Order: sequence, then structure tokens, then C-alpha cells
Amino acid sequence: MATVSIIYWSGTGNTEIMAEAIKEGVESTGIDVSIKLVDIATIDDVKDAKAVILGSPAMGDEVLADEMEDFVSQMEKEGIKNKIAGAFGSHGWGSGQWMRDFVKQLKKNGFNVIGGGLTIHLTPGDEEKEQCRNYGKQIAEKVK
Ligand SMILES: Cc1cc2nc3c(=O)[nH]c(=O)nc-3n(C[C@H](O)[C@H](O)[C@H](O)COP(=O)(O)O)c2cc1C
Repeated sequence: MATVSIIYWSGTGNTEIMAEAIKEGVESTGIDVSIKLVDIATIDDVKDAKAVILGSPAMGDEVLADEMEDFVSQMEKEGIKNKIAGAFGSHGWGSGQWMRDFVKQLKKNGFNVIGGGLTIHLTPGDEEKEQCRNYGKQIAEKVK
């Protein structure tokens, strides 16, 4: 099982681009990383990792995608707490409230959320992808 586990949902690919760049950032530190769509991820992907990085775009009215919402509920039911965590996602017209709420929820569950959650407006360009790589590196450094 990987040391860092990236689990995400993406409807139109923007959050997926972020996930791939975060993965590159983790890999650049030599830490092993797995990346999975939330639809196929299992709770073991979280349990066995030292750090979990969760991604979802802003959906509905400033909420997580249902698939990620369900996964986080499952994590809560399993009593998974106190891990190093990251949170990321793409958004459109909103102010980023979904991410502030997500980080708050993870913190409430005892997760050490690094960097307060990374948000990108719509499709990440080169600069934003670099931000994602740096975020991955930052989290990887914490598990070394
Ligand atoms: C059904 C739906 C609901 C959305 N709700 C919000 C929202 O509440 N706030 C916001 O900033 N963007 C919202 N968006 C915009 C998406 O977050 C944005 O398009 C994002 O880039 C999608 O990421 P993805 O390509 O990873 O799916 C919504 C998009 C859709 C399709």
C-alpha cells in the first residue's frame, strides 16, 4: 500500500488535472503514491496510507461531489482520524466556501490538513499545475 493516497472525483477533468500534478509533486520526493478515483477507492486506501489527499470540485451549491461526500462519511464511520491530509479541487463562480467547509470537516475529525486546502479556478494552467506539484511536495515532506 502506498504511503500517500490521492483519492478524487472529477466531472469534467479539472480536478483530475490537479490530482495528476499533485501526484507528480509527491513522486518528486521519492515517496510512493497511489491515485484513485473515489468510485474505485476503498477505505483501505486511507487506512494504510500515512497521508491522504482528497479532491473534489465545488458542486451543488458549494458542496462536495456526492461521491466524495459518501466516501468521507464512510471514513467517519470507520473512525479514521488523525492522519496527515490534503484537500484540493477546482471551482467555478463561487468563493471557495465548499473547500473551507471541507477542511473544517476534516479538521474536526482530527486530520492535520496541510496548507488549508488548494483551490483552482476552473482548468489549471501551467502556473496552477506548479502550485499543485508544490502542494504534493509539501504534504510528502510531512510523511518523511
Ligand atoms: C452541477 C454543478 C454544480 C456546481 N456548483 C458549483 C458551486 O457551487 N460553486 C462553484 O464555485 N462552482 C460550481 N460548479 C463549477 C465546477 O466546480 C467547476 O466547473 C469545476 O471546474 C469542475 O471541476 P471538474 O472538471 O473536476 O469536474 C458547479 C458545476 C456543476 C456542473
